[in-house]
Order: sequence, then structure tokens, then C-alpha cells
Amino acid sequence: MKRVAVIAGDGIGPEVIREAVLTLEAAQAIFNLEIVLTNFDWSADKYLATGISMPDGALDMLAAEYDGILTGAFGDPRVKDNKHAADILLGMRFGLDLYINLRPIKLIDERLCPLKGRTEKEIDFVVFRENTEGLYTFMGGNFKKGTADEIAVQEEINTRKGVERIITAAFDYARATGRKRVTMTDKSNVLTYGHDLWQRIFKEVAARYTEIEANHLYVDVLAMWMALDPGRFDVIVTNNLFGDIITDLGAALQGGLGMAASANIHPGRVSLFEPVHGSAPQFAGKQVANPVAAILTAAMLLDYLGYKDAAAAIEQAVEAAVRARETTSDIGGKLSTMQAGEAIRCRLREAARA
Ligand code: NAD
Ligand code: IPM
Ligand code: MN
Repeated sequence: MKRVAVIAGDGIGPEVIREAVLTLEAAQAIFNLEIVLTNFDWSADKYLATGISMPDGALDMLAAEYDGILTGAFGDPRVKDNKHAADILLGMRFGLDLYINLRPIKLIDERLCPLKGRTEKEIDFVVFRENTEGLYTFMGGNFKKGTADEIAVQEEINTRKGVERIITAAFDYARATGRKRVTMTDKSNVLTYGHDLWQRIFKEVAARYTEIEANHLYVDVLAMWMALDPGRFDVIVTNNLFGDIITDLGAALQGGLGMAASANIHPGRVSLFEPVHGSAPQFAGKQVANPVAAILTAAMLLDYLGYKDAAAAIEQAVEAAVRARETTSDIGGKLSTMQAGEAIRCRLREAARA
């Protein structure tokens, strides 16, 4: 039996997570999965009402009692500094040491790609984003804040252990899935200490995987190639901030943020699954958000829990619904969030009957 914590979060989070959960439940019935889902209401609403973003002991509880966590998104214009989002989302990434942020970039239907003439075959790669350090550690400070002489320093943390484990994870994944090339991207021509460490460790790790091509691109030129020739990418590994930026660009290649799924993983431990998109507050409650990213995220969760067939069946159902334009308007359909979710579940049930 697997236990999954569900944290719908803010904005469009609850709407897309509703569809993800209903789809998990449909898969559960078809494949006889033993999963127990438990809801947690950690969100901007809760934070504004109680001052508590995550209760004391929450991370220990998740680590001890759960196998997976499914979240929508966190971010609310009423919480100016988004403190609750940092506490909850980054709190889980850091506190549970979820060092792999795995973000697949896969085009389902070539009509969704903004690039001319690109096919589904060409756009199919994965990004391994370092998820526990880099520019995300909130280290730094101000001096003479608010004066004409003020200084702000924000430190980028790169540790040998942190860099080595994400690069190793990228190569292990390439080896396990038959992917041929790992591209490391950094800005080592300017960041001559931090990203030089990435360069050195990349070469060390690559030497242990002789069957896999290892190459390097500076991140600026990588962004150019993502737009000009995304077919050259197979596995990309990078730091926290560059991974954040290039995966929104990757989402665009797939048809937008409504299509992009992700996993925050520490192999063997409770791991966190969330769509790449945020809370899109302007869409909240309007039933226009695309549930595909959240549903594909639920499939990544099932895959992680070991339910490979169910995960693949959900992916196929999504592909069929998207290709038939049974979707929300961001990717060319006319359906509401709920209707788009139900269209995917219909495909899932149909495939199970066939
Ligand atoms: P966003 O991802 O919420 O939205 C950006 C744009 O992407 C939207 O305006 C919309 O056009 C499109 N979009 C996103 N999700 C969509 C969906 N499911 N269906 C259709 N279109 C979709 O990013 P933002 O506007 O920069 O951020 C809003 C809030 O979300 C901020 O508070 C931000 O910090 C937060 N955020 C949270 C997460 C997370 O919790 N994982 C991720 C990103 C942003
Ligand atoms: C993401 C988001 C987060 C990040 C924010 C909300 C902290 O943009 O998951 O991509 O920067 O990692
Ligand atoms: Mn992001």
C-alpha cells in the first residue's frame, strides 16, 4: 500500500489537482492499485487565516508516513513576499532533500509547438535540474538597505556533493532509459569558481559512462539551440536557476505551461510531484486552466511508486485526448478544466475496456 499526500495549494492548484486526483482514482480502479490519498490544506488561505504555512513537524511526518506528495501550485498576490510558498514548496524540496528536479520536455502533438515544422520525434528530452542549492538557498544580505549606498548580495552555492549527485543522476537516467547524450549547461566562462566546479565534476562523472556522449553548452547558447534545433537534446543537466528558466522555455516547446509535468525526487525516499506551472491567479476559479500538466504529473507519481502500466496508460490517454483536441482553450480546444480532465478519463477507461 502506498500513501500519497495531496496539497492542492493556491490559484488554479485546486482545479488542476482535482482532475489529477480523479484520474489517479480512475487508474486505481482499473489497475487495482493500493494507494491512499490524504489531503492537506496548506495554502495562502490557510497562511492568511492562521499565520501558519506548514505546521511544525510536517516534513518529518511526510518523510515517515508517505511515499509521494502531489501538489498544485503555491503563490498568491495577497501574500506579497510569497512566504508561504517558500516555506511549503522550497521547504519540501530542501527539507526532504529532493535533489533531482526531473522535468520532461515531450511534444505530444506537433500542432502545439510554436516552432515551424517540428515533429513529436524531435522534441523529447528531459532536464535534470539541481534542486537543493545554487541561487535558491536564501544566503546573502543587505548593507545600508534603502540608502543611496545600498548593497545586496545573493550567494550561489555549489557543493561538490550537490553537483556530483545531480550529474550522476542524469547519467544514470540516460543509461537506464537508453538515452545517448547528456548535455551539461552552465555559465563557466563568467562564473569561474562555481561553474568551474560543474565543469570539473561533469568530466569526472562522464568518464564513468563511456557509452554516453557528454557535451557542454553555455546556457545562453543552449537557449538559442532550444529554439533553433531542440532535436539535439536528450538529457540536459544544470543548476537550480538555469533549470528553472530553461524548463519554462521547454514548456513552451510542448504547447505551454499547461502541458509541463515535473518530479522532485530523492531516490528511495518520499518524493514530490508538481506541474511546472504556477498558481496563475488570474485564472483561478474560472475553469480555464489546462489540467494536462497536473495529470501527467500524477502519471510521474505513479511511475515513481512502481505502477508503470498505470502511468503509461494515463500518458496514452492524455495523448489521445490532446490529439483529438478534447482540451482547454490554451491548446486549441473548447473544454473547461473539468471537461478536459473527464475527456482524458474517458480515454483511459475506453483503453482499459479494449
Ligand atoms: P504561472 O505558471 O502561474 O503562469 C504563467 C502563465 O502561464 C499564465 O498566465 C498562463 O498564461 C500560463 N499557464 C500556467 N499554467 C497554466 C495552465 N494550467 N493552463 C493554462 N495556462 C497556464 O506563472 P506566474 O504568473 O509567473 O506566477 C504566478 C504565481 O505562481 C506566482 O506567485 C509564482 O511565484 C507562483 N509559481 C508557483 C509555482 C509552484 O508552486 N510550483 C511555479 C511557478 C510559479
Ligand atoms: C518552479 C517555480 C519555483 C522555482 C518558484 C515558485 C519558487 O518557478 O517550480 O519552477 O523557482 O523553482
Ligand atoms: Mn519555474
